[in-house]
Amino acid sequence: MKVYITDDLLSAGELSAQWIIEAHQAGARRFGLATGQTMIPVYRALVDRIRAEPSRLDVTAWETFNLDEYVGISPDHPGSFRHFMEEHLFSHINLERSRTHVLNGQAPDLEAECWRYENEIERARLEFQLLGIGMNGHIGFNEPGTPWNSRTHKVHLSEETLEQNRPSFPGEMPRAALTMGIASILRAETIVVVAIGASKANAVLQAITGRPDVLCPASALQQHRSVRYVLDRAAAKGLLASAESLRQHEIISEF
Ligand code: F6R
Repeated sequence: MKVYITDDLLSAGELSAQWIIEAHQAGARRFGLATGQTMIPVYRALVDRIRAEPSRLDVTAWETFNLDEYVGISPDHPGSFRHFMEEHLFSHINLERSRTHVLNGQAPDLEAECWRYENEIERARLEFQLLGIGMNGHIGFNEPGTPWNSRTHKVHLSEETLEQNRPSFPGEMPRAALTMGIASILRAETIVVVAIGASKANAVLQAITGRPDVLCPASALQQHRSVRYVLDRAAAKGLLASAESLRQHEIISEF
């Protein structure tokens, strides 16, 4: 695992976008994507790069798979993750919508929807997975206590997650969501986790240096062979204060 520490959120966005582009240049076409405030600078930097070099960065063959979606709201609801992706990425790049996959939180049979999606991800074999991290260490919407062999499933959101996401949700928040499971996420070839701000410092510290524990879902990433973290200084605070983490991990701080 490598940890990159940047000066601010803009540099964190640029570095993450750079890695997406490098993955594309190395042949990756199937990307797992995340939503949330942290991803806004990532997608902004990515869109800028793609627009600056449209012929070199032809994304028409990309296939994208989002991590999660709220239950019970329509794709055009301003709080839905499909809407987020349209606003921050899809509407700015040349990618057919049929190649962008987001769970359907309005499916009449949610269990069948989860199976359908899990099979799609399995077929696709994601080459690159982008992740944010919750204040409670969640990845996707896998809340503390989620088994590590979990596949795509329905979750009831914890009070902490509802509180974290409420400020960016217009209207009353759904209390349930569909999410790729931890095992689904760990299948990706390479994983990049982005965390910004002091509110994530504790989760980041637990995820990277804590004993792997279902109570911190992101600590499951310690099992994966290719994980990079991009942190701003505030999110890295706990890590930088921990002598053990400095000994055990490659911390790169030059951005
Ligand atoms: C979103 C997702 C979540 C977020 C996490 C961080 O698709 O899966 O795990 O990545 O909650 O959210 P922000 O970036 O809003 O702090």
